[in-house]
Amino acid sequence: MADAGSSLRQALSAIALRLQDAGIERARAEARLLAAQALGISVEAVVGDDGRVLSETEQRALDDLARRRARREPMSQILGYREFYGRRFAVTADVLTPRPDSETLIEAVLSHVDRAAPLRLLELGVGSGCLLLTLLAELPQTTGVGVDLSQVALAVARANAATLGVAGRCALIEGDWTSSVAERFDVVISNPPYIPSKALAQLDPEVSWYEPRLALDGGEDGLTFYRRVAADCERLLIPGGLLAVEIGQGQCDDVTQLLRQGGLEVLESRRDLAGIERCIRARKP
Ligand SMILES: C[S@@+](CC[C@H](N)C(=O)[O-])C[C@H]1O[C@@H](n2cnc3c(N)ncnc32)[C@H](O)[C@@H]1O
Repeated sequence: MADAGSSLRQALSAIALRLQDAGIERARAEARLLAAQALGISVEAVVGDDGRVLSETEQRALDDLARRRARREPMSQILGYREFYGRRFAVTADVLTPRPDSETLIEAVLSHVDRAAPLRLLELGVGSGCLLLTLLAELPQTTGVGVDLSQVALAVARANAATLGVAGRCALIEGDWTSSVAERFDVVISNPPYIPSKALAQLDPEVSWYEPRLALDGGEDGLTFYRRVAADCERLLIPGGLLAVEIGQGQCDDVTQLLRQGGLEVLESRRDLAGIERCIRARKP
């Protein structure tokens, strides 16, 4: 912790060192974000006014956030939000933090649909709502259903739907994947848990220690969900309907095969910004 009466600049240096020691790469940038959060000011104000002397209360607030981050708690959970596709989503420990990789799925859907059509959209495993709610915001004629097994995740999604002004166009319901869904949809999307159970312990501490296991664990080979959706897509999609699923690294061939076995025509796999095959788009004939 910085000494009493020390400047913001000194506090930032001390925090950056502490985060670096904890194995955090962007320590300096994160120190600034933590300071902005603790002091209730913008990052620009942190940088521009780093000569200011911190009060004891401010130092304590900053130290508390720095301690949490040094224990590898994710920035999104400390700050309480994450930006996704240009919008801010509330994040808690009950939901997966929205990932930039998942924007690949948004692009895959938006590039395929008629933006003026009144589509019906289903998301399986809605979590924070970043996928379904982004699509509802981008496609103003669309209505949707988001399913999750986790009631606490659904509470976060509902809050995000209200903030984004799309709550009136979606139903967020509790259910075990497709079991409580009777309707057929134009578009079904999912970013399911796809990490093989044995690989969970090797993930970064931010993920394996703090993110919900229910959002990560894809079963023995990581493919449990894809088998389920492949078996159900016939009854979930209208003829010509679209399925877009996020996949884990190296899962493209297996998931493609499963979806074909389910009767879908696989149209494309899309790579994320790191060049990894991240999303499969398929169509019901
Ligand atoms: C990888 S997270 C994706 C969350 C969000 N869609 C996103 O992209 O950030 C998977 C979600 O599936 C939910 N889930 C896990 N098992 C489920 C099940 N059997 N039925 C419904 N949802 C489930 C989890 O609670 C979690 O919110």
